[in-house]
Formats: sequence, structure tokens, C-alpha cells
Amino acid sequence: MLTSHEIRQKFISFFESKGHTFVKGAPIVVKGDPTLMFTNAGMNQFKDFFLGNAVSPNKRVVNSQKCLRVSGKHNDLEEVGHDHYHHTMFEMLGNWSFGDFFKKEAIEWAWELLTEVYGLPANQLYVTVFEGDAPSNIAFDQEAFDYWSRFFPADRILKGNKKDNFWEMGDTGPCGPCTEIHFDMRSEADRAAVSGAELVNNDHPEVVEIWNLVFMEFNRLADGSLVKLPAKHVDTGMGFERLVRGIQGKTSNYDTDVFQFIIQETAALAGKKYGDDEKQDIAFRVIADHIRAVSMCIADGQLPANNGAGYVVRRILRRAVRYGYSYLGFTEPFLHQLLPGLSNYFGNGSV
Ligand code: ALA
Repeated sequence: MLTSHEIRQKFISFFESKGHTFVKGAPIVVKGDPTLMFTNAGMNQFKDFFLGNAVSPNKRVVNSQKCLRVSGKHNDLEEVGHDHYHHTMFEMLGNWSFGDFFKKEAIEWAWELLTEVYGLPANQLYVTVFEGDAPSNIAFDQEAFDYWSRFFPADRILKGNKKDNFWEMGDTGPCGPCTEIHFDMRSEADRAAVSGAELVNNDHPEVVEIWNLVFMEFNRLADGSLVKLPAKHVDTGMGFERLVRGIQGKTSNYDTDVFQFIIQETAALAGKKYGDDEKQDIAFRVIADHIRAVSMCIADGQLPANNGAGYVVRRILRRAVRYGYSYLGFTEPFLHQLLPGLSNYFGNGSV
């Protein structure tokens, strides 16, 4: 079975073989952009390349980016721990074209990577394409549909609305139609009973979006209007923890090697076992998720505080402590003991 480190490296190597340059992810804490407190997508550090304010030295880039989605436009905090596939901090595997290749290559390479390199079963994949939006004067994405048609039967290419298939970084900034790849990880029997097509974008825990390919063509201005960008770009983001779960054949992101070592260390400290009791298990997952987010934010320069970005970190920290004390019987500080394992996992510098 591929380890999560091998899965990340295969992504990077694949796109390097397609002429991309590895650029290290940005800090998870954003300084100097008033529209963002934390990095919420791999493209944040490249915003000026999309807008045409700066020129990238590399036209094709690949990396893995630590993201936090606990504030602003993208906020998943309340789901975290209760379900098995949302996170505060997660890694986003991404590849980019800055005015270089566009829909054809982005789609072909996504298909090649998922089905040939990772060997995901093609018949468990679905894609969505933008249905268009008349008020914004944007047409159905026929081009993306046509490229996907080379790989998928028409009944596995679904149309998605503006909410799901038009990606925006925030209230303002670069944006564009997107095509998403969803992976149906249900059992064969469940798949035979109900088509995955009915479950895509329906909050089903085992039919989840894994990769978003955004075709950046517009800038959203503060007055809500869209203007064309000077060039066309590609911005992709794959949920690393979900991908690892799919490749490792697990039913929960937390059962992969990304999280299991933290859960097992927490279990040893608490003298309890993961899997014995659902309330305790939620607490294990909350802690496994939150210790990553808090540690990365602090390492990248944002201490817990009582306002702004620091308050977000403090809320995550408090939530981890509260679940530990309330459900796992901790009576004294414990989170710091999880750090050596975490630092060992992330110590190879690829994130
Ligand atoms: N920027 C896109 C996303 O975050 C890829 O989904």
C-alpha cells in the first residue's frame, strides 16, 4: 500500500514530468493580503500572477499547500471530527498554468494521474462541469464536457451550478468555472443499489469531491462585477487526505497514515482505545485534526490571541482541549505531547 508521503510525491513527480516546477507551499498564515487571514487554497500565493500584476518565473507549477478553512468564505469547523472527511487544516495538492496550457491538458493529466498512476477505478469516478449562468453571461462549459467525454460516458459527466462549479477565492479576486472530480468510495453493493450520480454534491460521506480544476478567466471586483483577466490560467486543488483515503481503501480520512499516528498517541496518553465509543472517537478525531492546524499556524507565525487570526487559532485550540477534557478524561495539558510525532511526519519538507 502506498504511504501518504509516496502519494504526495507521486503527484509532484507526475507534474514535474509534465514540465511543472515544484514551488514550496506558502505559510498557512497570510500576512499582507487584507482579504485573507489564512491560506485557504494553493492558489493564494499566486494571486498576482492570475491578476496580471506580476509574471511567474515558471509557467507551470506544482506543490502541496497547507490550507485552513475556518474563517471567511470557506468554513468547515463544525463538521470537523463529527464526520470523516472535513478538516480545519488540510493539504491541497495543486498544479497551475499561468497563461500556458488550459482545459485540454488539465483534464487529460487529471485523468492520467488518477487512473493510470494512482490506479483509481474509473467506474467509481464522476465529474461535474459548469452548467453556465445567464445573469453573469457565462455559458455552459461545453469544452470541459467534450474533453471529459473522451474518458467518461455522458451519464457520469454531471452539470453543476454556480455554487459548486464556479470557484472564487473570496468576495473579490480571481475566479472562474471549474470542473470537479468526485470519487464514489462506497461498497460494490451500495453502488449497485443507488447510482453515485445521485449522490454527487449531496453531502454523502463516501461520495466526495477529491479534485477541483478551476479555469481562471475572471476577476471579481468589489462591486460584484466580473472582468476578464488578461490571460487564461489553470488552478487545481486536490484534497490530499481524501485522496489518501481513497487510495489506501479506508472508509475514513482518519484511518489513513496521515492521522493514525496522532490518534494512537492520543489513545496511549488517554489510556483509551479509538473505535470503542463514538463520542470518544469524535474527540480523537477533533484532536487529531486540530493539533495539526494549531501547530502549523504557530510554526508559521500566528500565536493564539483574543482577536483576528489569533482568535481563530485560539478557538481551534480550545475546541481540541475541550474535547480532550470532556470526552477522553484528560485533566492536565496533553496536546504538546503530540508534537514530536507531528514534527516527524511533516519534517521531510515537501509541504
Ligand atoms: N482553488 C481551487 C480550490 O480551492 C482549486 O478548490
